[in-house]
Amino acid sequence: MCGIVAYIGSKPAKPLLLEGLKRLEYRGYDSAGLAILDGTLQIAKAVGRVVNLETKLKKLPGFEGSLGLAHTRWATHGGVTELNAHPHRDDKSGIAIVHNGIIENYAALKKLLTERGHTFHSDTDTEVLAVLIGELYEGDLEAAVQAALREVTGAYAICVVCEQEPGVLVCARKGSPLMVGVGSGECVVASDPSAIVAHTSQAFALEDYNVARITREGFRTSTIDNKPVSPKMMQLELDLEQAELGTYEHYMLKEIFEQPTSLRTTMRGRVDLNEGKIVLGGLMDCAKELVKIKRFILIAQGTALHAAMIGEYLLEDLATVPAECEYASEFRYRNPIIEDRTAVIAVSQSGETIDTLSALHEAKDRGALSLGVINVVGSSIARETEAGVYLRVGPEIGVASTKAFTGQVAALTLMSLFLARRRFMSAERTRTLLDALNKIPQAIETALESNDLVRRVTEKYVERDNWLFLGRGYNYPTALEGALKLKEISYIHAEGMPAAEMKHGPIALIDDGMPAVFIANKGPQYEKVINNIEEVRARGGHVIAVATEGDEHIASIAEDVLYVPDVPDCLSPMVTVIPLQLMAYHAAVLRGHDVDKPRNLAKSVTVE
Ligand code: M6R
Repeated sequence: MCGIVAYIGSKPAKPLLLEGLKRLEYRGYDSAGLAILDGTLQIAKAVGRVVNLETKLKKLPGFEGSLGLAHTRWATHGGVTELNAHPHRDDKSGIAIVHNGIIENYAALKKLLTERGHTFHSDTDTEVLAVLIGELYEGDLEAAVQAALREVTGAYAICVVCEQEPGVLVCARKGSPLMVGVGSGECVVASDPSAIVAHTSQAFALEDYNVARITREGFRTSTIDNKPVSPKMMQLELDLEQAELGTYEHYMLKEIFEQPTSLRTTMRGRVDLNEGKIVLGGLMDCAKELVKIKRFILIAQGTALHAAMIGEYLLEDLATVPAECEYASEFRYRNPIIEDRTAVIAVSQSGETIDTLSALHEAKDRGALSLGVINVVGSSIARETEAGVYLRVGPEIGVASTKAFTGQVAALTLMSLFLARRRFMSAERTRTLLDALNKIPQAIETALESNDLVRRVTEKYVERDNWLFLGRGYNYPTALEGALKLKEISYIHAEGMPAAEMKHGPIALIDDGMPAVFIANKGPQYEKVINNIEEVRARGGHVIAVATEGDEHIASIAEDVLYVPDVPDCLSPMVTVIPLQLMAYHAAVLRGHDVDKPRNLAKSVTVE
């Protein structure tokens, strides 16, 4: 989604801001812009990639100062045009602003400001905020920002500069992430730590309703009501090399192939095979409370939701405790009943997904114990949950989530076993499952060896515009994930569903143009899945099966078989998903799409 980078210090801001914007490109955007304050404000914008902005800037004189703001925009209000790209400015006061989020009452504010004689050049909510700050400006930028933010509803991360205060950068946040990296005589502010770590590892995350006033000499933080607050400094641990492409053609492919390594890191130090124990430091403080929990509610969106659905099965199956999983966006707006001893588990790669964060607030307000299964350390959800398990899969750059999915499933498996062992599971059964879990990275390595075959199979069907993904039990969410992956990067319409549901309507779609991908591993529902495959075959559908190595029968009923190693059913989604991820990747490449920058999508969805 939109990205922000701002700089104040002694170095030329322009190259630093452009480099920061490139680090944020993976988040998804459709235009870019920057402003440099060097006596006067200079602003440049371009539609499309950051490189377009860079090319434009090469032809423009000036842009030499060491204070500036930059932005990648993912359109919400108004089309993808230069006029709508950020930074936006208020001409009267000489204020420029970049903004992530949505100002919900912008229409009312715009009407009011128009009545007071202001004119607007764009369709954006952000320009309204710029003009509002300008209207309230009386020689103190920080005070004007605070006053304006008291008037707005919605979500924002903003950075603001003003021609009349050439050494001041003001930033603020509510509901949209913003981090201040603090170096010596300089600060880099960004919506994502990846744009900061090249410059400093000391940083703090702004909290909701907080404002930072930054100069070259230092900074101070306050609330929008001007009450001083002390930020909590943290050490950024992001390894920039991990975020490089290396020899791979796309981040998505790199991340698919990274999964054996990333999962080993997820499990390192957490699995004690000798003792049959699970060591999860992030849960220890509330372990006693956790064991007594009567109901878990898992909330998430997208791929994280599919992992959370597997978590629901795991908690019920292994830890024998009632669990249910729900779209965070739906949970938030109904009247969720949170009874005594209920825990909510927010599952999110970024830890910034606004739907998940807002649902978490709702659950906490109603008295639930809050847990997180998060990848990005120090993200909003990680900070706001009482306990949790980090994925430790490293930065995920590909918009299509892959290694985060397997990391989320592994973390939820560890969490379920942690609880199971403290409830009713014997040491021996725990040890057996932990042993199998430890071998999952190896099983993924084997599954990845079929990459060429997956490409050839995908080639056969890549022109088809409608696909079905079917699975049962633990692999019903895997089917949903397979369909989502195909949709988001190859723009092929795909539906995932429980294999048994097909007979209740979707079977009407089956004809000889429809590929149906079945996850048919040797689990407890194998025979039932075979029946469902026969039903599709009988209607001329093309069956592609993801099956367990050694299953010869399936080769006689499916047109194409993608074998994966035999692992316990409850752990199988981490392995069966591999050919589906590869299939989506190859379909996108074969169709000529930009795999890492799929149209309309953003890596982290920070608006509702
Ligand atoms: O950062 P999160 O895990 O909270 O993100 C949730 C979804 O937006 C995300 O999984 C999305 O569905 C991905 N594009 C899937 O590949």
